[in-house]
Amino acid sequence: APDIDIAAVKGHLTELQSIADGNGGNRAHGQPGYKASVDYIKGKLDAAGFTTSLQEFDFNGSTGYNLIADWPAGDAEQVVMAGAHLDSVGRGAGINDNGSGSAGILEVALNVAKADLKPAKKLRFAWWGAEEYGMVGSTHYVNELSSGDLSKINSYLNFDMIGSPNPGYFVYDDDPELEKVFKDWYAGKDIVTEQETEGDGRSDHAPFKERGVRVGGLFSGAEAAKTAEQAEKWGGTPGESFDPCYHSSCDTTKNLDDTALDHNSDAIAHALWNLSA
Ligand code: PHE
Ligand code: CA
Ligand code: ZN
Ligand code: ZN
Ligand code: ZN
Repeated sequence: APDIDIAAVKGHLTELQSIADGNGGNRAHGQPGYKASVDYIKGKLDAAGFTTSLQEFDFNGSTGYNLIADWPAGDAEQVVMAGAHLDSVGRGAGINDNGSGSAGILEVALNVAKADLKPAKKLRFAWWGAEEYGMVGSTHYVNELSSGDLSKINSYLNFDMIGSPNPGYFVYDDDPELEKVFKDWYAGKDIVTEQETEGDGRSDHAPFKERGVRVGGLFSGAEAAKTAEQAEKWGGTPGESFDPCYHSSCDTTKNLDDTALDHNSDAIAHALWNLSA
């Protein structure tokens, strides 16, 4: 798998920050910054050769959007999906939550195109709307799938907060094979991971898991505090939240750990290359 360029990931985050700044300060569901951000990502994917579609839904009196992008190569009967919620809370630009996952999977998708990858399985990327209102977009997507189309989804990988400023390295423990593909990558970097527990059921993998799709993912931590033991293995500040700006106005492009964002983006590429091969 390619080494994902952290500067490119951060470039997308700079764009998402400036889109928020120009649209009332956020990417919240029903706010103009959300659709403008969808348009930015869709434009990049269309130019790279993805087949994109916008799925609309109604929530709270506003239209929400999921952006779905399929890579044209690969067997459509076996789909490997990666997803991230693109909406933010109303209070800020949501750069770690969840610009980070959104930008990470975007840059991995652009690398799939750059490599002109011919995987055995179909790669599908998704940017979800209205996660912050209770996983509304991803639930809508799963509910709209026929049982036939649902059974074609080989796995769903979720990325919600992967650049936390006081980072931890958490791997979802829902499925052993999907957990292993990530753990193998970190082991090669001598990074010790922990099982993700803070977020169980709290992000867009939940509706997939509920319908019997195997799920995996990465997480660098939200409001929980890093323990002394964790600070010993990962560095950073013990006794402080993994993300002190979680759901706050200070979740800006300053609210990132570049090393965590880089490692996690590289690990996403590794997982998708391996699982789709
Ligand atoms: N879904 C939570 C949010 O967007 C964050 C979160 C992600 C929490 C993953 C736990 C695990 O606010
Ligand atoms: Ca990298
Ligand atoms: Zn959130
Ligand atoms: Zn989130
Ligand atoms: Zn690799």
